[in-house]
Amino acid sequence: MSQKKIVLITGITGQDGSYLADFLLSKDYEVHGMIRRSSTERYERIEHLKGKVELHQADLLDQHSITNLVDRLRPDELYNLAAQSFVPTSWDQPLLTAEYTALGVTRILEAIRLLKPDTKFYQASSSEMFGKVKIYPQNEDTPFYPRSPYGVSKVYGHWITVNYRESYDLFACSGILFNHESKRRGIEFVTRKITLAAAKAKLDPSRKLKLGNLEARRDWGFAGDYVRAMWMMLQQEKADDYVIATGVMHTVQDVAELAYAHVGLDWKDHVVVDQGLFRPAEVDQLMGDASKAKKELGWEPEVSFEELIRTMVDADLERVKAEKK
Ligand code: NAP
Ligand code: GDD
Repeated sequence: MSQKKIVLITGITGQDGSYLADFLLSKDYEVHGMIRRSSTERYERIEHLKGKVELHQADLLDQHSITNLVDRLRPDELYNLAAQSFVPTSWDQPLLTAEYTALGVTRILEAIRLLKPDTKFYQASSSEMFGKVKIYPQNEDTPFYPRSPYGVSKVYGHWITVNYRESYDLFACSGILFNHESKRRGIEFVTRKITLAAAKAKLDPSRKLKLGNLEARRDWGFAGDYVRAMWMMLQQEKADDYVIATGVMHTVQDVAELAYAHVGLDWKDHVVVDQGLFRPAEVDQLMGDASKAKKELGWEPEVSFEELIRTMVDADLERVKAEKK
Protein backbone atom coordinates (compact mmCIF):
# COMPACT_ATOMS: atom_id res chain seq x y z
CA MET A 1 0.00 0.00 0.00
CA SER A 2 1.20 3.51 -0.82
CA GLN A 3 2.76 5.38 2.11
CA LYS A 4 2.41 8.65 0.25
CA LYS A 5 -0.13 11.22 1.36
CA ILE A 6 -3.08 11.36 -1.01
CA VAL A 7 -4.23 14.73 -2.26
CA LEU A 8 -7.17 15.70 -4.42
CA ILE A 9 -7.05 19.02 -6.29
CA THR A 10 -10.18 20.41 -7.90
CA GLY A 11 -9.35 22.86 -10.68
CA ILE A 12 -6.07 21.08 -11.46
CA THR A 13 -6.22 22.29 -15.09
CA GLY A 14 -6.26 25.93 -13.93
CA GLN A 15 -3.34 28.23 -13.17
CA ASP A 16 -3.16 27.50 -9.43
CA GLY A 17 -4.04 23.81 -9.77
CA SER A 18 -1.10 23.23 -12.09
CA TYR A 19 1.38 25.00 -9.78
CA LEU A 20 -0.03 23.24 -6.72
CA ALA A 21 0.31 19.85 -8.45
CA ASP A 22 3.97 20.65 -9.27
CA PHE A 23 4.55 21.68 -5.66
CA LEU A 24 2.86 18.65 -4.06
CA LEU A 25 4.68 16.23 -6.37
CA SER A 26 7.93 17.78 -5.16
CA LYS A 27 6.71 17.00 -1.62
CA ASP A 28 6.13 13.37 -2.64
CA TYR A 29 2.32 13.38 -2.51
CA GLU A 30 0.17 11.02 -4.58
CA VAL A 31 -1.59 13.69 -6.63
CA HIS A 32 -5.12 13.28 -7.98
CA GLY A 33 -6.91 15.94 -9.99
CA MET A 34 -10.60 16.46 -10.60
CA ILE A 35 -11.45 17.47 -14.15
CA ARG A 36 -14.80 18.13 -15.76
CA ARG A 37 -15.86 16.37 -18.92
CA SER A 38 -15.14 18.28 -22.11
CA SER A 39 -15.49 17.33 -25.77
CA THR A 40 -11.93 18.50 -26.37
CA GLU A 41 -9.28 17.47 -23.88
CA ARG A 42 -6.91 20.43 -23.74
CA TYR A 43 -4.92 20.41 -20.54
CA GLU A 44 -1.91 22.44 -21.60
CA ARG A 45 -1.05 23.64 -18.07
CA ILE A 46 -0.63 20.05 -16.86
CA GLU A 47 0.73 18.53 -20.07
CA HIS A 48 4.13 18.16 -18.36
CA LEU A 49 2.49 16.15 -15.54
CA LYS A 50 1.21 13.30 -17.75
CA GLY A 51 1.88 10.02 -15.97
CA LYS A 52 2.66 11.81 -12.69
CA VAL A 53 -0.87 12.76 -11.63
CA GLU A 54 -4.13 10.84 -11.89
CA LEU A 55 -7.12 12.63 -13.37
CA HIS A 56 -10.74 11.84 -12.48
CA GLN A 57 -13.91 13.15 -14.07
CA ALA A 58 -16.35 14.89 -11.73
CA ASP A 59 -18.12 18.23 -11.68
CA LEU A 60 -18.78 20.90 -9.06
CA LEU A 61 -22.44 20.79 -10.13
CA ASP A 62 -22.81 17.09 -9.50
CA GLN A 63 -22.93 15.96 -5.87
CA HIS A 64 -22.73 12.24 -6.69
CA SER A 65 -19.61 12.61 -8.79
CA ILE A 66 -17.85 14.47 -5.97
CA THR A 67 -19.07 12.10 -3.27
CA ASN A 68 -17.95 9.06 -5.26
CA LEU A 69 -14.54 10.59 -5.85
CA VAL A 70 -13.96 11.39 -2.18
CA ASP A 71 -15.15 7.90 -1.25
CA ARG A 72 -12.81 6.24 -3.75
CA LEU A 73 -9.69 8.29 -3.02
CA ARG A 74 -10.17 9.00 0.70
CA PRO A 75 -7.77 11.95 0.43
CA ASP A 76 -5.61 13.22 3.27
CA GLU A 77 -5.86 16.73 1.84
CA LEU A 78 -8.33 18.32 -0.58
CA TYR A 79 -7.71 21.69 -2.23
CA ASN A 80 -10.83 23.23 -3.76
CA LEU A 81 -9.48 25.50 -6.49
CA ALA A 82 -12.22 24.91 -9.08
CA ALA A 83 -14.53 27.84 -9.73
CA GLN A 84 -15.92 30.14 -12.38
CA SER A 85 -13.10 32.57 -11.63
CA PHE A 86 -13.43 35.39 -14.20
CA VAL A 87 -15.18 38.38 -12.63
CA PRO A 88 -16.83 39.85 -15.81
CA THR A 89 -18.37 36.47 -16.70
CA SER A 90 -20.06 36.47 -13.31
CA TRP A 91 -22.38 39.30 -14.43
CA ASP A 92 -23.25 37.40 -17.64
CA GLN A 93 -23.70 34.06 -15.84
CA PRO A 94 -24.55 34.90 -12.23
CA LEU A 95 -26.46 31.70 -11.49
CA LEU A 96 -23.83 29.42 -12.94
CA THR A 97 -21.17 31.34 -11.03
CA ALA A 98 -23.11 30.82 -7.81
CA GLU A 99 -23.57 27.11 -8.54
CA TYR A 100 -19.84 26.55 -9.16
CA THR A 101 -18.18 29.10 -6.95
CA ALA A 102 -20.58 29.14 -3.99
CA LEU A 103 -22.65 25.92 -3.80
CA GLY A 104 -19.83 23.83 -5.25
CA VAL A 105 -17.96 24.41 -1.98
CA THR A 106 -20.81 22.97 0.09
CA ARG A 107 -21.00 19.93 -2.17
CA ILE A 108 -17.34 19.16 -1.45
CA LEU A 109 -17.66 19.87 2.27
CA GLU A 110 -20.68 17.55 2.46
CA ALA A 111 -18.74 14.75 0.79
CA ILE A 112 -15.91 15.19 3.29
CA ARG A 113 -18.24 15.45 6.27
CA LEU A 114 -20.11 12.27 5.38
CA LEU A 115 -17.27 10.09 4.11
CA LYS A 116 -13.86 11.25 5.28
CA PRO A 117 -14.19 13.89 8.03
CA ASP A 118 -10.46 13.90 8.81
CA THR A 119 -9.60 15.16 5.29
CA LYS A 120 -7.87 18.53 5.55
CA PHE A 121 -9.70 21.02 3.34
CA TYR A 122 -8.50 24.20 1.63
CA GLN A 123 -10.96 26.71 0.14
CA ALA A 124 -9.74 29.19 -2.49
CA SER A 125 -11.22 32.40 -1.12
CA SER A 126 -10.45 35.75 -2.68
CA SER A 127 -9.59 39.37 -2.01
CA GLU A 128 -12.60 40.14 -4.26
CA MET A 129 -14.64 39.49 -1.11
CA PHE A 130 -13.32 42.80 0.31
CA GLY A 131 -14.60 44.65 -2.76
CA LYS A 132 -15.48 48.23 -1.90
CA VAL A 133 -12.84 48.68 0.75
CA LYS A 134 -12.41 51.59 3.10
CA ILE A 135 -9.63 50.10 5.23
CA TYR A 136 -6.01 49.70 4.02
CA PRO A 137 -4.41 47.24 3.96
CA GLN A 138 -6.98 44.43 4.26
CA ASN A 139 -6.47 41.60 6.74
CA GLU A 140 -8.50 38.67 8.12
CA ASP A 141 -10.67 41.07 10.16
CA THR A 142 -11.55 43.49 7.36
CA PRO A 143 -15.31 43.44 6.56
CA PHE A 144 -16.43 42.04 3.21
CA TYR A 145 -18.30 44.18 0.64
CA PRO A 146 -18.24 42.15 -2.61
CA ARG A 147 -18.87 44.02 -5.87
CA SER A 148 -19.68 41.22 -8.33
CA PRO A 149 -21.68 37.98 -8.41
CA TYR A 150 -18.26 36.28 -8.29
CA GLY A 151 -17.30 38.17 -5.12
CA VAL A 152 -20.66 37.40 -3.52
CA SER A 153 -20.24 33.69 -4.35
CA LYS A 154 -16.77 33.66 -2.81
CA VAL A 155 -18.14 35.21 0.39
CA TYR A 156 -20.58 32.29 0.58
CA GLY A 157 -17.72 29.81 -0.04
CA HIS A 158 -15.67 31.46 2.69
CA TRP A 159 -18.42 31.42 5.32
CA ILE A 160 -19.59 27.88 4.57
CA THR A 161 -15.98 26.75 5.09
CA VAL A 162 -15.84 28.56 8.44
CA ASN A 163 -19.26 27.17 9.32
CA TYR A 164 -18.33 23.53 8.61
CA ARG A 165 -15.18 24.00 10.69
CA GLU A 166 -17.23 25.32 13.60
CA SER A 167 -20.27 23.03 13.18
CA TYR A 168 -18.55 19.73 12.46
CA ASP A 169 -14.99 20.31 13.64
CA LEU A 170 -13.61 19.76 10.13
CA PHE A 171 -10.05 20.85 9.43
CA ALA A 172 -11.20 23.47 6.92
CA CYS A 173 -9.09 26.51 6.00
CA SER A 174 -9.93 29.50 3.87
CA GLY A 175 -7.05 31.21 2.09
CA ILE A 176 -7.96 34.80 1.23
CA LEU A 177 -5.62 35.23 -1.70
CA PHE A 178 -4.96 38.50 -3.47
CA ASN A 179 -4.38 38.51 -7.25
CA HIS A 180 -1.62 36.15 -8.31
CA GLU A 181 -0.34 35.68 -11.80
CA SER A 182 2.16 33.69 -13.87
CA LYS A 183 2.97 32.64 -17.39
CA ARG A 184 0.13 30.10 -16.97
CA ARG A 185 -2.47 32.80 -16.18
CA GLY A 186 -5.61 32.73 -18.37
CA ILE A 187 -5.33 35.20 -21.26
CA GLU A 188 -8.49 37.12 -20.30
CA PHE A 189 -7.05 38.34 -16.97
CA VAL A 190 -5.48 41.78 -17.25
CA THR A 191 -1.81 41.02 -16.55
CA ARG A 192 -1.63 38.19 -19.07
CA LYS A 193 -3.76 40.11 -21.57
CA ILE A 194 -1.14 42.86 -21.40
CA THR A 195 2.00 40.68 -21.42
CA LEU A 196 0.71 38.70 -24.41
CA ALA A 197 -0.22 41.89 -26.27
CA ALA A 198 3.20 43.43 -25.53
CA ALA A 199 4.93 40.31 -26.85
CA LYS A 200 2.83 40.39 -30.03
CA ALA A 201 3.50 44.12 -30.45
CA LYS A 202 7.22 43.42 -30.32
CA LEU A 203 6.81 41.37 -33.52
CA ASP A 204 4.16 43.65 -35.02
CA PRO A 205 4.44 47.24 -33.68
CA SER A 206 1.16 48.25 -35.34
CA ARG A 207 -0.83 46.14 -32.85
CA LYS A 208 -3.18 47.91 -30.45
CA LEU A 209 -4.56 46.65 -27.13
CA LYS A 210 -8.01 47.53 -25.78
CA LEU A 211 -8.18 47.84 -21.99
CA GLY A 212 -10.79 49.04 -19.49
CA ASN A 213 -10.04 50.85 -16.25
CA LEU A 214 -6.32 51.72 -16.20
CA GLU A 215 -6.61 53.24 -12.73
CA ALA A 216 -7.69 50.01 -10.97
CA ARG A 217 -5.12 49.00 -8.36
CA ARG A 218 -4.26 45.47 -7.34
CA ASP A 219 -1.80 43.67 -5.11
CA TRP A 220 -0.24 41.28 -7.65
CA GLY A 221 1.95 38.34 -6.60
CA PHE A 222 3.34 35.17 -8.20
CA ALA A 223 1.09 32.07 -8.27
CA GLY A 224 4.01 29.76 -7.41
CA ASP A 225 4.52 31.63 -4.12
CA TYR A 226 0.81 31.49 -3.33
CA VAL A 227 0.29 27.73 -3.74
CA ARG A 228 3.06 27.22 -1.18
CA ALA A 229 0.95 29.21 1.29
CA MET A 230 -2.07 26.95 0.62
CA TRP A 231 -0.05 23.89 1.58
CA MET A 232 1.42 25.60 4.65
CA MET A 233 -2.10 26.30 5.94
CA LEU A 234 -2.96 22.60 5.90
CA GLN A 235 0.23 21.67 7.80
CA GLN A 236 -0.74 23.66 10.92
CA GLU A 237 -2.05 22.19 14.19
CA LYS A 238 -5.28 24.15 13.88
CA ALA A 239 -7.37 25.12 10.86
CA ASP A 240 -7.69 28.87 10.33
CA ASP A 241 -8.08 31.60 7.69
CA TYR A 242 -5.18 33.57 6.24
CA VAL A 243 -4.70 36.56 3.94
CA ILE A 244 -1.97 35.97 1.34
CA ALA A 245 -0.65 39.08 -0.40
CA THR A 246 2.52 41.05 -1.15
CA GLY A 247 1.38 44.29 0.52
CA VAL A 248 2.34 46.29 -2.58
CA MET A 249 -0.21 47.86 -4.91
CA HIS A 250 0.12 48.85 -8.59
CA THR A 251 -2.24 50.20 -11.24
CA VAL A 252 -3.21 48.44 -14.46
CA GLN A 253 -1.32 51.24 -16.21
CA ASP A 254 1.85 50.28 -14.27
CA VAL A 255 1.54 46.76 -15.70
CA ALA A 256 1.22 48.15 -19.23
CA GLU A 257 4.16 50.55 -18.79
CA LEU A 258 6.41 47.80 -17.49
CA ALA A 259 5.39 45.15 -20.03
CA TYR A 260 5.75 47.35 -23.13
CA ALA A 261 9.00 48.90 -21.84
CA HIS A 262 10.39 45.37 -21.43
CA VAL A 263 10.06 44.85 -25.20
CA GLY A 264 11.38 48.34 -25.95
CA LEU A 265 7.98 49.94 -26.71
CA ASP A 266 5.97 52.79 -25.20
CA TRP A 267 2.59 51.59 -23.86
CA LYS A 268 0.96 54.88 -24.88
CA ASP A 269 1.48 54.00 -28.56
CA HIS A 270 -0.46 50.75 -28.15
CA VAL A 271 -3.08 50.90 -25.40
CA VAL A 272 -6.57 52.12 -26.26
CA VAL A 273 -9.13 52.63 -23.50
CA ASP A 274 -12.43 50.92 -24.29
CA GLN A 275 -15.38 51.99 -22.14
CA GLY A 276 -17.05 48.67 -22.95
CA LEU A 277 -14.46 46.91 -20.80
CA PHE A 278 -15.32 48.85 -17.64
CA ARG A 279 -17.23 46.80 -15.08
CA PRO A 280 -20.77 47.53 -13.81
CA ALA A 281 -19.30 47.80 -10.30
CA GLU A 282 -15.54 48.08 -9.95
CA VAL A 283 -13.20 47.07 -7.16
CA ASP A 284 -11.00 50.17 -7.27
CA GLN A 285 -8.11 49.03 -5.14
CA LEU A 286 -6.94 46.08 -3.11
CA MET A 287 -3.86 45.72 -0.94
CA GLY A 288 -3.36 42.89 1.52
CA ASP A 289 -1.73 42.58 4.91
CA ALA A 290 -0.29 39.06 5.19
CA SER A 291 1.25 39.59 8.66
CA LYS A 292 -0.67 36.66 10.15
CA ALA A 293 0.52 34.24 7.45
CA LYS A 294 4.08 35.53 7.80
CA LYS A 295 4.03 35.08 11.57
CA GLU A 296 2.10 31.81 11.90
CA LEU A 297 3.00 30.00 8.66
CA GLY A 298 6.43 31.49 8.06
CA TRP A 299 5.28 32.38 4.54
CA GLU A 300 6.99 35.10 2.47
CA PRO A 301 6.49 36.04 -1.20
CA GLU A 302 9.68 35.57 -3.20
CA VAL A 303 8.91 37.10 -6.59
CA SER A 304 8.53 40.89 -6.99
CA PHE A 305 5.92 42.57 -9.18
CA GLU A 306 8.58 43.73 -11.67
CA GLU A 307 10.14 40.27 -11.93
CA LEU A 308 6.71 38.69 -12.33
CA ILE A 309 5.61 40.91 -15.22
CA ARG A 310 8.96 40.67 -17.02
CA THR A 311 8.94 36.87 -16.71
CA MET A 312 5.42 36.76 -18.12
CA VAL A 313 6.41 38.94 -21.08
CA ASP A 314 9.46 36.75 -21.76
CA ALA A 315 7.33 33.60 -21.71
CA ASP A 316 4.80 35.18 -24.07
CA LEU A 317 7.57 36.30 -26.41
CA GLU A 318 8.81 32.71 -26.63
CA ARG A 319 5.28 31.54 -27.30
CA VAL A 320 4.48 34.02 -30.06
CA LYS A 321 7.85 33.44 -31.73
CA ALA A 322 7.26 29.67 -31.66
CA GLU A 323 3.75 30.15 -33.09
CA LYS A 324 5.13 32.34 -35.86
CA LYS A 325 7.62 29.63 -36.83
P1 NAP B 1 -8.59 29.25 -13.24
O1 NAP B 1 -7.26 29.26 -13.95
O2 NAP B 1 -9.73 29.95 -13.86
O3 NAP B 1 -8.97 27.72 -12.98
C1 NAP B 1 -10.27 27.35 -12.60
C2 NAP B 1 -10.36 25.84 -12.56
O4 NAP B 1 -11.69 25.45 -12.16
C3 NAP B 1 -10.11 25.17 -13.93
O5 NAP B 1 -9.35 23.99 -13.72
C4 NAP B 1 -11.52 24.80 -14.36
O6 NAP B 1 -11.57 23.71 -15.25
C5 NAP B 1 -12.15 24.42 -13.04
N1 NAP B 1 -13.61 24.38 -13.06
C6 NAP B 1 -14.45 25.40 -13.40
N2 NAP B 1 -15.72 25.00 -13.31
C7 NAP B 1 -15.70 23.69 -12.91
C8 NAP B 1 -16.70 22.71 -12.65
N3 NAP B 1 -18.00 22.99 -12.78
N4 NAP B 1 -16.33 21.49 -12.26
C9 NAP B 1 -15.03 21.18 -12.12
N5 NAP B 1 -14.02 22.05 -12.36
C10 NAP B 1 -14.36 23.30 -12.75
O7 NAP B 1 -8.41 29.86 -11.76
P2 NAP B 1 -7.08 30.10 -10.89
O8 NAP B 1 -6.55 31.45 -11.19
O9 NAP B 1 -6.21 28.91 -10.98
O10 NAP B 1 -7.71 30.20 -9.44
C11 NAP B 1 -7.91 29.05 -8.64
C12 NAP B 1 -8.95 29.35 -7.58
O11 NAP B 1 -8.51 30.42 -6.75
C13 NAP B 1 -10.32 29.77 -8.12
O12 NAP B 1 -11.29 29.28 -7.24
C14 NAP B 1 -10.26 31.29 -8.05
O13 NAP B 1 -11.56 31.81 -7.96
C15 NAP B 1 -9.47 31.48 -6.77
N6 NAP B 1 -8.69 32.71 -6.66
C16 NAP B 1 -7.82 33.05 -7.66
C17 NAP B 1 -7.02 34.17 -7.51
C18 NAP B 1 -6.04 34.56 -8.58
O14 NAP B 1 -5.60 35.72 -8.56
N7 NAP B 1 -5.66 33.67 -9.47
C19 NAP B 1 -7.12 34.95 -6.34
C20 NAP B 1 -8.01 34.55 -5.34
C21 NAP B 1 -8.78 33.42 -5.50
P3 NAP B 1 -11.48 23.90 -16.88
O15 NAP B 1 -10.01 23.85 -17.19
O16 NAP B 1 -12.23 22.73 -17.37
O17 NAP B 1 -12.09 25.22 -17.21
N1 GDD C 1 -9.69 41.36 -17.24
C1 GDD C 1 -9.49 42.65 -17.55
N2 GDD C 1 -9.42 43.03 -18.86
N3 GDD C 1 -9.36 43.53 -16.55
C2 GDD C 1 -9.15 44.83 -16.88
C3 GDD C 1 -9.05 45.27 -18.20
C4 GDD C 1 -9.21 44.32 -19.24
O1 GDD C 1 -9.15 44.63 -20.44
N4 GDD C 1 -8.82 46.60 -18.19
C5 GDD C 1 -8.76 46.98 -16.91
N5 GDD C 1 -8.97 45.92 -16.11
C6 GDD C 1 -9.03 45.95 -14.64
C7 GDD C 1 -10.31 45.35 -14.07
O2 GDD C 1 -11.37 46.30 -14.16
C8 GDD C 1 -9.86 45.04 -12.65
O3 GDD C 1 -10.03 46.17 -11.84
C9 GDD C 1 -8.37 44.73 -12.78
O4 GDD C 1 -7.99 45.15 -14.11
C10 GDD C 1 -7.98 43.27 -12.59
O5 GDD C 1 -8.82 42.47 -13.43
P1 GDD C 1 -8.56 40.89 -13.62
O6 GDD C 1 -7.16 40.65 -14.04
O7 GDD C 1 -9.65 40.39 -14.52
O8 GDD C 1 -8.66 40.30 -12.15
P2 GDD C 1 -9.72 40.55 -10.98
O9 GDD C 1 -9.04 41.38 -9.94
O10 GDD C 1 -11.02 40.99 -11.48
O11 GDD C 1 -9.94 39.07 -10.43
C11 GDD C 1 -8.84 38.18 -10.25
O12 GDD C 1 -8.33 38.31 -8.93
C12 GDD C 1 -9.26 37.94 -7.90
C13 GDD C 1 -8.55 38.19 -6.56
O13 GDD C 1 -8.69 39.53 -6.20
C14 GDD C 1 -9.34 36.76 -10.53
O14 GDD C 1 -8.24 35.88 -10.54
C15 GDD C 1 -10.32 36.30 -9.47
O15 GDD C 1 -10.63 34.92 -9.68
C16 GDD C 1 -9.65 36.49 -8.10
O16 GDD C 1 -10.50 36.07 -7.06
